[in-house]
Amino acid sequence: MKKSDNIEINGTNFRKFLTSRKISKIVSELAERINEDLQGLEPVFLLVLNGSIFFGVDLLRKISLECTIKTISAKSYGNKMKSSGEVSVESQKLDIAGKVVVIIEDIIDSGHTIKAIIAAISKLKPDSVKIVTLLDKPSRREVNVIIDYVGIEIPDTFVIGYGLDYAEKGRNLPDIYALEDVK
Ligand code: IMP
Ligand code: MG
Repeated sequence: MKKSDNIEINGTNFRKFLTSRKISKIVSELAERINEDLQGLEPVFLLVLNGSIFFGVDLLRKISLECTIKTISAKSYGNKMKSSGEVSVESQKLDIAGKVVVIIEDIIDSGHTIKAIIAAISKLKPDSVKIVTLLDKPSRREVNVIIDYVGIEIPDTFVIGYGLDYAEKGRNLPDIYALEDVK
């Protein structure tokens, strides 16, 4: 294993888990499915800040549909590795009434964040709401949510990189790293 495959962030050791090459392949496959499914629907892509910035931008570059792009803020984790279960959603004034909305998430863990986002934007009367996530940790789910597009399912571990942070650090890493104790 190369030395760069192991990194330390905030005193915690992480090991390379998904390379940027693998991520790029996953993103292309997701974009292809969305391009095919949503033809002619002029969707609004809703990028969830901050975690989805890398994924969202890379995905949207590969979307060939006529579409618009908006952002939304959601916070649940603070500085810990476990979700608090309390989620605050800040939606700027979103003009999505009657539109097909696609929420772009980095990772679905307990499901509380995405559920809170769906609840917040449903009040704005969209035609429909779809969800695309790069990563999914189904074994951690605490609430039932249907995810339309999943990039890859991962085990119950904490990951950083490619937009995902540990206490705000590690977002800039081009690859995704997982806690070292995970096989
Ligand atoms: P949930 O509410 O438990 O589903 O958590 C979702 C949010 O928590 C995601 O949008 C991420 O911002 C963050 N999150 C969940 N798992 C991880 C992880 O492994 N690394 C970094 N952030 C995570
Ligand atoms: Mg997030």
